[in-house]
Amino acid sequence: MRVAVVGATGAVGQIMLRTLERRGFPADAIVPFASERSAGRELDGYGVIQPLTEETVQGYDLALFSAGGSTSRAWAEHFVAGGAVVVDNSSAWRMDPDVPLVVSEVNPEAIDEARKGIVANPNCTTMVVMLPAKALHDAFGMTAMVATSYQAAGGAGQKGIDELAFQVPVLHDDIEMLVNDGAQAARRVESSIHENTLAYNVVPLLGTLGENGYTDEEMKLQNESRKILGLPDLAVSPTCVRVPVMVGHAIEVKATYAAEVDRDEALEALRAFPNLIVEDAPTPLEAAGRDETFVGRVRVDLADPRSLNFFVVGDNLLKGAALNTVQIAELAVERGLVGARA
Ligand code: A2P
Repeated sequence: MRVAVVGATGAVGQIMLRTLERRGFPADAIVPFASERSAGRELDGYGVIQPLTEETVQGYDLALFSAGGSTSRAWAEHFVAGGAVVVDNSSAWRMDPDVPLVVSEVNPEAIDEARKGIVANPNCTTMVVMLPAKALHDAFGMTAMVATSYQAAGGAGQKGIDELAFQVPVLHDDIEMLVNDGAQAARRVESSIHENTLAYNVVPLLGTLGENGYTDEEMKLQNESRKILGLPDLAVSPTCVRVPVMVGHAIEVKATYAAEVDRDEALEALRAFPNLIVEDAPTPLEAAGRDETFVGRVRVDLADPRSLNFFVVGDNLLKGAALNTVQIAELAVERGLVGARA
């Protein structure tokens, strides 16, 4: 089995390579692809980085993409034409009705509907919400969801991590200014990846603003949740916020159900769900580097006995991206998709 990893030099691509190794993925060859800037260079342990050309994309069984939406739009179908099943981590194909959007523990059967030979990996914030959302939906029948995220800098790739890492020591240098004149402290650094200074701050705008006042990141939370859960009418109220955390997205969710809910039953459903761990108060720092998703602070809403409030945390680079991509690749092999097209 020949596997291409497109975007192999990026934050997610690097973790994809490690995850394939760690999980003993049955590949005979793993070939790294990246932009023209990196092509020709040796990638430790994986040989020479390939450019994307009509010739180089031929003859793969699987291609795992994490190189941005425009690269996926331009090249995914070429890999498919060359014999591969594509698993794409960008937003390019997620809402295409012929492309399944799969969270491996939530809707694995959807992979059989990959009519274009492409399977999409959800947005990293939507991903971590889906595990507890599915567990509780199966128990109570969800009708609405208010979701407010606390998203890590690493959600914007390596550049997001680097920008925060640079800003922290600069602002830390003058704690008094942080206390007495925060606006001046914020102006001591420039921000190009995040909307505003992220160090010692919280930034309630993330992604591109649309005409309705919601960002594209917020719209993904609505549209992708509906598609993954098979609930086209689910009412979703999303707010996406960037916080000064390197890796680990957290989301506070108020989910509303068809009938009154019971806290003990909710906890039981969450505990029984695969790769989901119930803790009192999970934190993103402690989730960084972990495969599992963590959920806690599970409470019946004070004002509405049909609603539950909970706090969910997951590693945005692992379950939120690279790990789920590899899990989808494993599913594609298990369910006989790989090789079938050739
Ligand atoms: P490169 O390192 O050559 O720029 P991140 O999300 O961490 O910024 O990573 C993005 C990944 O996508 C990198 O591996 C990057 O390669 C790759 N990439 C970016 N643009 C292209 C492109 N036009 N063609 C192929 N790969 C690309």
